[in-house]
Amino acid sequence: MKNMLVTGGCGFIGSNFIHYILSESGYKGRIINVDKLTYAGNPENLAGIDKKFPGRYCFVKADICDRQAMEMVFEKHQIDSVCHFAAESHVDRSIVEPDAFIKTNITGTFNLLELARSHKDKILLFHHISTDEVYGSISDGSCFTEDTPYHPNSPYSASKAASDHLVRAYGTTYGLPVTISNCSNNYGPYQFPEKLIPLIILNAFEEKALPVYGDGLNIRDWLYVTDHCKAIWLIMQNGKRGETYNIGGDCEMRNIDVVKMICDLIEKIMPRPNHPHLQELITFVKDRPGHDLRYAIDFSKLQTELGWVPAESFETGIKKTIKWYIDNKNWVDRVKSGKYMSWIKQQYDL
Ligand code: NAD
Ligand code: DAU
Repeated sequence: MKNMLVTGGCGFIGSNFIHYILSESGYKGRIINVDKLTYAGNPENLAGIDKKFPGRYCFVKADICDRQAMEMVFEKHQIDSVCHFAAESHVDRSIVEPDAFIKTNITGTFNLLELARSHKDKILLFHHISTDEVYGSISDGSCFTEDTPYHPNSPYSASKAASDHLVRAYGTTYGLPVTISNCSNNYGPYQFPEKLIPLIILNAFEEKALPVYGDGLNIRDWLYVTDHCKAIWLIMQNGKRGETYNIGGDCEMRNIDVVKMICDLIEKIMPRPNHPHLQELITFVKDRPGHDLRYAIDFSKLQTELGWVPAESFETGIKKTIKWYIDNKNWVDRVKSGKYMSWIKQQYDL
């Protein structure tokens, strides 16, 4: 893999992946990052990377749905591998405005697959990044395996499920070398503050309401983003072509416990004498429609076949994350001056 197309590289996980792949992974080739720069895409996440790795990083602003623009990228950069992150990724937005999810997540993925098919002689791998949400909600005591039937419950997860099926079909029908990974909830640096963890951290810094949906008893499995990036790279190198791998953090937590833990850690890291306890800011708000109760991942296939386990516990990962948001106030201020705040305030009457 000499010329890797990374889609959505200016988003949260994509930018962490590009930092990891160029700095730590041992990969010697070039990264061609194609991103449309939606509200969630922030080139500042990769500031200075082209100078740090001369000749090894290139950014192209384009929409993966634009066949002509993407054809030019494949031709000009002699793409030989694809790591496909680009997506609309926020469940709440998919409930309010599903159109973009259908376009980018389904049509955009289809477009890339068609381009990969037409350049099949050169393509060594098409790796598709997906989510555990395609499996739907799971009751206590069981976990999602790679054989769990798909049961998506939101427009977001349904669009990701459709894209997974397309990727698998292109592997089976056209012999395209594909791999798919389905990962649990990520957190860490550069995450856009519409998602639970950065939203709670940043609201807590400003002593604003900390919105918890419903009764706060929904369970998610949390994974530090660098662990996800390492798993992706392992699968890209050594995963069996045509296979799916689940990735998880072995870290199931109820939302309310995540929020309380963040409050307590912020109070330890930045003591605030004579202020009310941050937990007092927790505000139960109306629930997300169709809110999945529990996600839990069995990643034993990835562990057994490729030797991957997460390096970070939730405690070590969340401390690093809180510190990152403290140390990167300029990034936070610039992101917050964008459009997302008004959207969130409107949704939850904050
Ligand atoms: P994100 O919303 O932070 O970033 C998405 C990126 O894709 C942005 O840079 C955006 O500009 C870009 N993009 C969107 N539409 C595009 C288009 N039409 N053409 C080109 N670029 C476009 O998302 P994320 O949290 O980094 O998620 C990345 C991928 O990982 C997604 O496929 C998501 O489904 C998957 N995933 C996310 C999580 C998680 O917890 N965040 C967990 C499992 C899987
Ligand atoms: O499981 C993987 C998925 O994790 C990814 O595929 C998605 O792209 C990613 O957004 C994430 O989806 P969730 O819906 O689980 O993440 P979110 O951070 O939006 O919410 C996490 C949990 O917290 C969920 O149960 C809803 C709840 N929540 C969320 C927000 C934003 C709250 O209680 N309050 C909030 O303000």
